[in-house]
Amino acid sequence: MSVTEELMVTPEVLACPYDYYRRVRDEAPVHQTPLGFWVVSRYDDVLSVVRDPERFSSGARPGVQPPIDDELRAIEQTGYPNADTLLSNDPPSHTQFRALVNKAFLPKRVAQLEGEIRDIAEGLLDRFIEDGRVELVTQFAVGVPLTVIADALGVDRADMPDFKRWSDDSVAPLSGLLSPDQMLQCARSRVEFQHYMAARCLERQDEPRDDLLSDLVQARFDSGERAGEPLAMHELLSVIQQLLVAGNETTTKLIASGMQMLIDHPDQMAAVVADPSLIPNLVEESLRAETPVQMLPRVAKVDAEVGGVTIPAGSLLFVLYGCANRDEAKYPGAAAFDVRRPNARTNLAFGQGPHFCPGAALARSEARIAFELLLGRCADWAYDESMAEPTHRELSMTLRGLSALHLTFSQRAIF
Ligand code: HEM
Repeated sequence: MSVTEELMVTPEVLACPYDYYRRVRDEAPVHQTPLGFWVVSRYDDVLSVVRDPERFSSGARPGVQPPIDDELRAIEQTGYPNADTLLSNDPPSHTQFRALVNKAFLPKRVAQLEGEIRDIAEGLLDRFIEDGRVELVTQFAVGVPLTVIADALGVDRADMPDFKRWSDDSVAPLSGLLSPDQMLQCARSRVEFQHYMAARCLERQDEPRDDLLSDLVQARFDSGERAGEPLAMHELLSVIQQLLVAGNETTTKLIASGMQMLIDHPDQMAAVVADPSLIPNLVEESLRAETPVQMLPRVAKVDAEVGGVTIPAGSLLFVLYGCANRDEAKYPGAAAFDVRRPNARTNLAFGQGPHFCPGAALARSEARIAFELLLGRCADWAYDESMAEPTHRELSMTLRGLSALHLTFSQRAIF
């Protein structure tokens, strides 16, 4: 069967897409799948699409409305209206929101968070270090980004179980595999989160603090009709919601997959342990080899040529970030996991162009600190063979990563 006749979203391909990706890049790098949408797979072609919002929109997606639409709308009416601010917006409106959000992710703020990230990661590690075994995803990789962003948004530690649920329910729809009931549950959760965060925003309006939420609440549009104005509440909530959607599970998956690949490649583990200055490149290579956000959609605004193929105006297409990051033309020996790969940092895991991830520096810091602690304080990392399934991979169209990683280790002697 030709690769153009294959369904991309089968459980087999989602479990391990790399053979399918290789065939797509080689045989039909830009094509329309049997499900109607198009895919763009090669590194250079993905770059050309995401850098060109004039031809490729991140906004309204064509498609059939799901049957639960009325019920969904009724739930949404109990919350704040949706606003297209970032992920689903296009320039020039996107540019204005983005300039404002960038002010909350200045290098100064990220550097300031570094100490907090270390404290949070160390606190999580302390809870299991005496055990010699850990389920790394739930006991560590979830907690690092979740707690960092919760603190930055002024969420009380006592409310963390709710915050975790809100974060999970923000991300769940991305899988593309939810039942109607699950979609309604996610909508209820979104509304609950909106009301909770609206109260925190009002607190920051009255009494700003030295934190990321205050930066967002206090930021003003620089130019345009709204120059000098702050974000309206529903816009603020849209931005905050997207920090959860884009920031938590992605970083969790990066930490877990990086550890898994080190365990699967003992020579690479030994190299990083011997020379911890390789850790920043380990982060990049992990992003490249097991890209947390495998693909994202765009809509062609005009008949648009990509890699010699014309995608008709109005078509839905997916840029395959995870596939582009394994393009042999860019990364020779792309299937190998190589913590010394010289161009690992050119990976497209954070996107490129106007939607380039504003949280990239934060995510890189979190992952770097996580690896520094896990490898610096513990040794002899291995799968916990006493568990029936030492790892569990979650199936999703968009996100790729582990939902469980059972490991054993020993403590390093500290002198
Ligand atoms: C390993 C971790 C992360 C990965 C792999 C990742 C990936 C991405 C990607 C691929 C995009 C581009 C979307 C597009 O092309 O349409 C993006 C955008 C975004 N990310 Fe991240 N992200 C990560 C961490 C974070 C963190 C920690 C935050 C914030 C706390 C964050 C917030 C955002 C936001 C708000 C956007 C939307 C930007 C826009 O549309 O202008 N991300 N991210």
